Amino acid sequence: MASTDTKILVIGAFGQLGSELVPELVKIYGRQNIIVADIYPNNNTLAASVEELDVVNKKQLEEILRKHSIAQIYHLAALLSASGEQHPQLAWEVNMQGLLNVLDLGVQLGIEKIFWPSSIAVFGPNSPKVKTPQLCIMDPTSIYGITKLAGERLCEYYHYRYGLDVRSLRYPGLIGYNAMPGGGTTDYALHIFYEAISKKSYACFLKEDARLPMMYMPDAIRATIELMQAPVENITVRTSYNLSAFDFTPAEIATEIKKYIPDFKCTFAPDFRQKIAESWPNSIDDSIARRDWGWQEKYTLSTMTAEMIQKISEKENMVVKQI
Ligand code: SER
Repeated sequence: MASTDTKILVIGAFGQLGSELVPELVKIYGRQNIIVADIYPNNNTLAASVEELDVVNKKQLEEILRKHSIAQIYHLAALLSASGEQHPQLAWEVNMQGLLNVLDLGVQLGIEKIFWPSSIAVFGPNSPKVKTPQLCIMDPTSIYGITKLAGERLCEYYHYRYGLDVRSLRYPGLIGYNAMPGGGTTDYALHIFYEAISKKSYACFLKEDARLPMMYMPDAIRATIELMQAPVENITVRTSYNLSAFDFTPAEIATEIKKYIPDFKCTFAPDFRQKIAESWPNSIDDSIARRDWGWQEKYTLSTMTAEMIQKISEKENMVVKQI
């Protein structure tokens, strides 16, 4: 656990994950201890201090780490899978150079703990599809997955070579009502709620049977904090932990939403993202996370759907059926 004056830097703080993680960190560690950085910063944050940062710029990162005497880093900045396919070189640069800068400065400045997110995208067409294990053939085909797999190896290397305490989770698709994702293949699972509530129709960019592992954001945030607070001797995986809650297809989530919005109509118009989805697992075996630091999800597809519908309807000022 961080002591009361441990300064924590969140990089990529205004993204989908950062926007939800920062309020939780503020709650746990106190506003004065949380510093946020982003390439597109704004003042809409609970953190004590906001910095503009392009994580590829090592000098800029070093200045921020020194200025605030940072002890822990959550490095969340990255291009996701779909954006990565549009800009492969940029994805490589941001995802790899950014991580390398964080790890290098982590060693140089004696950073006590680092969190870095990996993804189900590290798996590929030859990985087992169902209950994909922690260790198996990993042959990612997206540039995003390639950067995440290489990143995992780097994290492990920095741990064993330099003793850096870097911890990581392979997130499934993340679904939350506060912040919009940007450029991911699993983003449909969030868009579908907004469009079902506002327009009663949604054209999904994946096929109706594209099954993917998913998780509700509050569970993902809790997993992140629990991993970071776990005793160091419990952490046996220094690449990245498999993590899962549930899995569903676009057709299945549409059926769930129809319980609240009976005239909701979901159509399917798969684009290039379908190919990315097809290369990923259908479901994940996360028994090592459960064993090592007690991971246990709270939400199911149906409890998540109930809460998403309620929260988004409130935000959009709409009335939907109660079940
Ligand atoms: N949710 C991410 C994406 O779709 C995967 O980590 O790109």
